[in-house]
Amino acid sequence: MNMTTMVPFVKWAGGKRQMLEQLGIRMPETYGGYYEPFVGGGALVLSLAPEKAVLNDINQELVHTYREIRDHLDALLVLLSSMDTVTCTKEFYYEMRERYNEKHRLAEYDTEMAALFIYLNKHCFNGLYRVNTRGEFNVPWNQKLSVRSMDMENIKAISAYLKSVTITCRDFEKALEDVKKGDFVYFDSPYAPLNPTSFDSYTKEGFTEEEHRRLAELFRRLTDQGVYCMLTNHNTELIRELYEGFLIEEIDVRRAINSDPKKRKGKEVIIRNYGEQIQHS
Ligand SMILES: C[S@@+](CC[C@H](N)C(=O)[O-])C[C@H]1O[C@@H](n2cnc3c(N)ncnc32)[C@H](O)[C@@H]1O
Repeated sequence: MNMTTMVPFVKWAGGKRQMLEQLGIRMPETYGGYYEPFVGGGALVLSLAPEKAVLNDINQELVHTYREIRDHLDALLVLLSSMDTVTCTKEFYYEMRERYNEKHRLAEYDTEMAALFIYLNKHCFNGLYRVNTRGEFNVPWNQKLSVRSMDMENIKAISAYLKSVTITCRDFEKALEDVKKGDFVYFDSPYAPLNPTSFDSYTKEGFTEEEHRRLAELFRRLTDQGVYCMLTNHNTELIRELYEGFLIEEIDVRRAINSDPKKRKGKEVIIRNYGEQIQHS
């Protein structure tokens, strides 16, 4: 498999696979280092495979899984293949989920934990990642008896690519401490809710309005430093206010390019501190 055809090894909330073309055409022509402080499933970085990438996420289990794919691929594949030889009944799924949560309680960050992380993602309802207040994974089974946990060629290509990548697990601001003029940063933070009152229902790990303000301040600081920044989020009043003055383009994820201007009004925005508006024909 060619590195540029890699796709995420997990389904992740906010995954950008449907928006890849829109993001790709808005990349700067040239840039130094590539940074993704909210990497999640990493759809964009995997589609581009840039040299000198720094990937970061605050989710420890996700970051651990990236590192295991990079550093212990063979052992990981053996574990995943053996899990996949068993029919995923309800009992088996909950057994695997309990095994994962036991590792979490004991802080056993080993290759098996990464294998279980991928397995649960592929066999849980909707590929959701949700934990309770103790950090235990609590998503129910997706009721599918046989789903493959991985695409062998894809995961091998990811492993090879990650060998040259720096992977960190920090807050987004810390993760960008070394960014320099001419580098590129893609920000795909958790979404701002379409309904502002929904901020109240965010969990303790949630991304509050304050966090969105902190992110926008960072975006402005990096702009002053000459760093290329691109950011995606919902098309809400808060986001428009926070990024006023930057290039804000509305994108309809399902109908990304539409000849009828009335139908172009999108639910998401791509915001940049460089480049020009892309004309739709
Ligand atoms: C919308 S997802 C990214 C989706 C990703 N671009 C993709 O294609 O799958 C947002 C990510 O931000 C991470 N996150 C939340 N708060 C964070 C913080 N303060 N610092 C760094 N990462 C954070 C979450 O763990 C989550 O993986």
